[in-house]
Amino acid sequence: MFTMKVLITGSTKGIGWAIAEKLAENGCHIFLHGRNADDLKKNKATLEKKHPNCDVFTAASDLSTKDGVKQLVAAVQKHWSVLDVLINNAGVFLPGNITEEADGTLESQINTNLYSAYHLTRMMMSSIHKSKQAHIFNMCSIASKIAYPNGGSYSISKFALLGFNKVLREELKPKGIKVTAILPGATWSNSWAGVDLPHERLMEANDIAIAVWSAIQMSPAAVVEEIVLRPQLGDL
Ligand SMILES: NC(=O)c1ccc[n+]([C@@H]2O[C@H](COP(=O)([O-])OP(=O)(O)OC[C@H]3O[C@@H](n4cnc5c(N)ncnc54)[C@H](OP(=O)(O)O)[C@@H]3O)[C@@H](O)[C@H]2O)c1
Repeated sequence: MFTMKVLITGSTKGIGWAIAEKLAENGCHIFLHGRNADDLKKNKATLEKKHPNCDVFTAASDLSTKDGVKQLVAAVQKHWSVLDVLINNAGVFLPGNITEEADGTLESQINTNLYSAYHLTRMMMSSIHKSKQAHIFNMCSIASKIAYPNGGSYSISKFALLGFNKVLREELKPKGIKVTAILPGATWSNSWAGVDLPHERLMEANDIAIAVWSAIQMSPAAVVEEIVLRPQLGDL
């Protein structure tokens, strides 16, 4: 396997950061992204110290706008003409009920959780096409498959992202580009800060990273289409 160039959106913390650490540990070059420039600087320094052979680049932009997506694409293409792995991970969770949540809740989550992946994938395709081991991941959710209390518009956005993933998979099948949907259940991250539950009740972000890395390692003959991960005791 060649050394892979990997772009991970939303890799300042949580699941995205755990994936970045796992892939750097396995020899990948990493493009970190998020909105918080201080976190990006800190994460870059951490990876470079632990993995001196790993190239690490960063870009800060808000993916809820098309301009923010364009900024990220320009930053990546400044350094890399080829992109091997794109991980559409950035997302936001605003709990609520459809009939009660504030006006604009659906729009903001569709912008961040769906349009970001749609626009970024389309804009990165020229670089992805040049890769001999191209793979696109979309960070969906258990909320892409089932409705649950307080899921509100978040669930709508994640159902839509899984729809995007399925269409992309069909379109890119004949081109040799792999497409994988990751559907995690409750995983420790910022979204769960302050929740009063025993630590072992939720999955670790590193569990999701292990799943991503294992899907990347398959031969060109195989693609993992969907990975569903749940806490051992089931959904909350
Ligand atoms: N944790 C769970 O239980 C769980 C379960 C299923 C699916 N997921 C999905 O997993 C993904 C990662 O979630 P997480 O739990 O790791 O959350 P997190 O710790 O809050 O991290 C979210 C990441 O997304 C970035 N981000 C958010 N909005 C953005 C925007 N508008 N533009 C650019 N970057 C943005 C954040 O960057 P900055 O902080 O720098 O802005 C951060 O790096 C999300 O798509 C989420 O829906 C999470």
